[in-house]
Amino acid sequence: MTGKLITFEGPEGSGKSTQIKRLAEELEAQGITTRCTREPGGTATGEAIRNILQHDAVGEPLSERAELLLFTASRAQLVDHVISPALERGEWVLCDRFIDSTMAYQGFARGMDLETLGRINDFAIDHRPLDLTLLLDLDIERGFQRLEKRYSISGSADRFEREAHDFHFRVRDGYHKLAECSPERFRIVDADQSIDAVAASIWTAVKEALL
Ligand SMILES: Nc1ncnc2c1ncn2[C@@H]1O[C@H](COP(=O)(O)OP(=O)(O)OP(=O)(O)O)[C@@H](O)[C@H]1O
Ligand SMILES: [Mg+2]
Repeated sequence: MTGKLITFEGPEGSGKSTQIKRLAEELEAQGITTRCTREPGGTATGEAIRNILQHDAVGEPLSERAELLLFTASRAQLVDHVISPALERGEWVLCDRFIDSTMAYQGFARGMDLETLGRINDFAIDHRPLDLTLLLDLDIERGFQRLEKRYSISGSADRFEREAHDFHFRVRDGYHKLAECSPERFRIVDADQSIDAVAASIWTAVKEALL
């Protein structure tokens, strides 16, 4: 039996990385082998691409199309080398950001053509279907308040975190539109709760959708 592909989406600081660990622990406790990964990254090639995308590693401005294709190159590598093999082994794959981040950031926030992005996404993931997308929904200001604590520990914000706040409003709004378009795949989770309460909401959503 093939596994399940679950993606975590949401604005900066909404708790994706925190909650992916919690869901993996819960699934493992149920005897389900899980594989957590992240985008961009998750493979050696993908992590090298992540460094370019997030930290201006090569020291020149990225064109919007180059940015898009780097994200989707990382995604194609991840699908072929990590996600598809794990699913075929029957594992459940939990991915921190995936195709909907492209639609929200490059599409709704940067204004690139959504239909084109959809086709490029589909090509990058080789038409692999997603089983569930958890959208961690959080007010933009609340997310940035949470991240301020992280900057004080680990240094400066990345390229996307430095975008103006209205960019991030368009990201959040774009995620809502994506969820409206695919209600069977998306579950919107209120991320403005305690870590335990968000984890409980996610677990309920996963049980209802997949177990
Ligand atoms: N429900 C919560 N309540 C309060 N703080 C939280 C909650 N969830 C996560 N945090 C804290 O907020 C910060 C951001 O969380 P996390 O890194 O999981 O978010 P993220 O969505 O992965 O962010 P990014 O988009 O930057 O990757 C962390 O310091 C985390 O400990
Ligand atoms: Mg994260």
